[in-house]
Amino acid sequence: MAIIGKDIERAIEVLKVGDVIGLPTETVYGLAGNAYNTEAITKIFTVKNRPTFDPLIVHTSSLERVNEFVKEIPVQAQLLAEHFMPGPLTLLLPKKDVISDLVTSGLETVAVRIPNHPLALELLQKLDFPLAAPSANPFGYISPTSAQHVANQLGDKIKYILEGGECKVGIESSIIGFFDGEIVILRKGGLAIEEIESIVGKVRIEEHSSSNPKAPGMLKSHYAPRTQLLVAGESFLVEEEVFNIGYLGYDKYHPSIPHENQLLLSPSGNLNEAAKNLFAYMRLLDARGFEKIYTELLPEKGLGRAINDRIKRATTQE
Ligand code: TXA
Ligand code: MG
Repeated sequence: MAIIGKDIERAIEVLKVGDVIGLPTETVYGLAGNAYNTEAITKIFTVKNRPTFDPLIVHTSSLERVNEFVKEIPVQAQLLAEHFMPGPLTLLLPKKDVISDLVTSGLETVAVRIPNHPLALELLQKLDFPLAAPSANPFGYISPTSAQHVANQLGDKIKYILEGGECKVGIESSIIGFFDGEIVILRKGGLAIEEIESIVGKVRIEEHSSSNPKAPGMLKSHYAPRTQLLVAGESFLVEEEVFNIGYLGYDKYHPSIPHENQLLLSPSGNLNEAAKNLFAYMRLLDARGFEKIYTELLPEKGLGRAINDRIKRATTQE
């Protein structure tokens, strides 16, 4: 069983021998290994049960160090990096040969992120290699936002989880690519589109599909809990037995469902707070053994857009 602790030296020892750890970040916990070590990368894919066509994000501690493994940083990327790194932003940049095809699934770009978490930054500063890390959940399941979430799902497969508290942002980073001078959002995430556009102007948002996706992690039926999750329609309760139904609401309780079956993402209607609670509350409701869980879509602004994206994909039944 994995040990949960705050011992950075211990985490370094595990990473140096090509093994993997649970890594706290401000978005979600990662399953991290040496990005320059094939054995470690292979282990990440195996532990997560993740198909190798789904590339990994490479984490480092500063923009200077990004240059060790990236050929060039376009002007627009540089601007975004200066404003939002460290932070919940991932940039797709042309990779150098030190990054193996295994990390990028054969793509010429590598996904780069500087996490805004004190423990993660301290660890990355002390290492002489960057860390490849996908979210630390089994493939297809909700991302973990606490060390305990990681232990619950991957604890028997990894040795050490660095305890960094609950993730402050709570949803994965926004992923941005640069294609022929065009700025494209490939995954809506913890950095609001409004903030991105305030720096670089209008961007294109690539809506994902379930076939042949550009970023394979964008498969529609991602993030699913085990219990069936549905967006509540107008008349859904007529024929349902409400005592066995859970509800994940935004800021108000559903009038027809018992209060003890409900969790509110943010009673004060704060989208950042809702993002922070989203995955943890999905897990809590999932564990209650309800027949179904109903939820609702949030306002389409700020982090509400990324939250709705997760909800829509969690409710896709395929
Ligand atoms: O917040 C986050 O980004 C977290 C923390 C741990 O940093 N990481 C995370 O990783 O969410 P993961 O592996 O669960 O999602 C990474 C996504 C996948 O959808 C993958 O397809 C996409 O990034 N991706 C990685 N490299 C790419 C590339 N070169 N081109 C296009 N998409 C890429
Ligand atoms: Mg993931």
